[in-house]
Amino acid sequence: MPTPSAPRKPRVICLGGSATIDQIFLVDEVKQPSAKIMAKDFVETGGGMAANAAVAVQRLGGQASYWGRVGDDEPGDQVIALLAHEGVDVSSLHKLAGFRTKLASILIDARGERLVVSSQPQGYPPDPSWLPIEQVAQADAVHADTRWLAGAHRLFDAAAAAGKPSVFDGDGGDPEQVAATARLATHPFFSETMLQALGFGAPEAALPRVFGGRNVAAGVTLGADGVMWFDGARIRSTPAPKIRPVDTLAAGDTWHGAFALALAEGRALDAAIEFATAVAAMKCTRFGGRAGIPRREEFERWWAQRRPG
Ligand SMILES: Nc1ncnc2c1ncn2[C@@H]1O[C@H](COP(=O)(O)OP(=O)(O)O)[C@@H](O)[C@H]1O
Ligand SMILES: [Mg+2]
Repeated sequence: MPTPSAPRKPRVICLGGSATIDQIFLVDEVKQPSAKIMAKDFVETGGGMAANAAVAVQRLGGQASYWGRVGDDEPGDQVIALLAHEGVDVSSLHKLAGFRTKLASILIDARGERLVVSSQPQGYPPDPSWLPIEQVAQADAVHADTRWLAGAHRLFDAAAAAGKPSVFDGDGGDPEQVAATARLATHPFFSETMLQALGFGAPEAALPRVFGGRNVAAGVTLGADGVMWFDGARIRSTPAPKIRPVDTLAAGDTWHGAFALALAEGRALDAAIEFATAVAAMKCTRFGGRAGIPRREEFERWWAQRRPG
């Protein structure tokens, strides 16, 4: 008799412009130039917005695929190995001959704030025609960052054709192009800086202005202040759990990965936002960028302990 198969994990495709190797140092304070600083802790791990989101999907119980490019160098092999080790499907993570992989050195200070130095964009060709777009029909949600907008367009169009939710992490890049791409997604959520750069003022005023196209909800993550979003009718907000931040690196990436997974699981919008906000807050209590992204069981335990009674 065939054994009953395990329930199918929700599938999320995460598309990113760059997957990096991050060297992350924990320091008391970021000093002025020509100081020597002895770090209190040190982690080398993978980074990149959508790559971190894919890791969040995987650790929280989903099945993630990462679509993107790295260079054909040793860091590129490392990026791929780290994602594969998490269980992320890397069959559409291509090594580009003659290109370099992006590296970043990051200082995290005692308040959990970060100073990031990264190599410049590596000039990967924008052509997204090789993406295995037919796989979108088997996914439950898709996600893209702002670092490869041509890829994001192709992914969001395929998601719309297949009736799947699409999450856009609107953080960085050319404001006009980012705003245009956001309208192709069902759930664009911006960083505070990016939303400001769009030039529509405070979030309450800006969100109804950016809302349009295929949007079901357009929002902004506000760090310790949680999340604000517009659902086409009204402005809503979800506070962040109060924590002592140790490291906010990858908090936004984690938020968007957790949110895409929750939508893939079929959760209602406000439940998905509450889940993502709590998971991202827990990430901030742990050092090491991607290394601090919680697993589902760890998160459930932490969350249960925080509830009174
Ligand atoms: N100091 C903090 N306290 C609690 N949660 C936080 C804190 N900083 C970040 N978060 C969580 O991470 C999410 C994303 O953080 P944010 O700083 O807005 O992202 P980004 O770095 O991409 O701009 C927030 O919405 C919140 O859920
Ligand atoms: Mg971010």
